[in-house]
Amino acid sequence: GTAVILDVDTGVDDALAILFAVAHPDIDVRGITCVAGNAGLEQVVANTLRILDAAGAPDIPVAAGARRPLIEAARSATQVHGADGLGGVELAASARQPTPEGAVGLMRRLLLESTVPLTLVALAPQTNLALLLRTHPEVIPHIERIVFMGGSASVGNATAVAEFNVWHDPEAAAIVLDSGVPCYMYGLDVFNHVSVPFETARALAARADIGGRVVGELLGNRVKAAGDYSGLIGDAGAVCAIVDPEAVGTQVRPVRVELSGYSRGQTVVDRREAAGEDVLHGSAASTVGVEVALAVDAERMLRLFL
Ligand code: BDR
Ligand code: CA
Repeated sequence: GTAVILDVDTGVDDALAILFAVAHPDIDVRGITCVAGNAGLEQVVANTLRILDAAGAPDIPVAAGARRPLIEAARSATQVHGADGLGGVELAASARQPTPEGAVGLMRRLLLESTVPLTLVALAPQTNLALLLRTHPEVIPHIERIVFMGGSASVGNATAVAEFNVWHDPEAAAIVLDSGVPCYMYGLDVFNHVSVPFETARALAARADIGGRVVGELLGNRVKAAGDYSGLIGDAGAVCAIVDPEAVGTQVRPVRVELSGYSRGQTVVDRREAAGEDVLHGSAASTVGVEVALAVDAERMLRLFL
């Protein structure tokens, strides 16, 4: 199995990812850290706790992290995830509190305490990860790799070229990609292709067990909330890719985050087969290889998720 820390901005599809990760025997969730993104920080923490209660996993520690990106003000994504970030799914508030050590403190402690290196799974803007890597570089040897949902080698969603998580905090993503930790990018090239048919979502929502019901309602509400996101398992796909890496086609490519102009937040994935002028003149966008997910067997992944 793989021992992970999830970093989330719960968020409809972050909730799906949490439910999948907690349920799957090959994933050992050691902790969950929260960051502002799809919703404000307090809402993200509250959503994460109530999803863990629904998943029957009340012992996983949860910590609150950054309430805004490194440089810019926080932005809202309520048009995609609803005012509460969960598309209006009805779940009781949790009686639990987040751990007082905070996101960076929790990640650091879990990493240093673990006898095996941990995988950081970032499903949100990467502010918490950037702060961790910059303030506590001693944790780096304890990180197996960073699997992040973010970026795109093709089309964007927040802007024509930028994906939301990277666009929300481009400096943080740049810090993560430059950290020297091996990275796996699960971007829009695959994210946009794994969705549950409406009938399947409806059948799940009618189930008696709370896990099935919540997954079905989350998927169904997503259908109502935004046509473009119909039934997408979204962030959950990044966790599925850890369980079944063969379901995804990847290439190791240099990736750089654009930090200025209209393309701010774009991930430039260098897919050339031969070095160009920039490489010859020492001005290449990046030399750091990232494993980039470019194709997915959507049916296979959907079977795994369901
Ligand atoms: C990403 O942004 C959020 O809307 C989703 O939860 C996902 O992490 C997609 O761009
Ligand atoms: Ca997310």
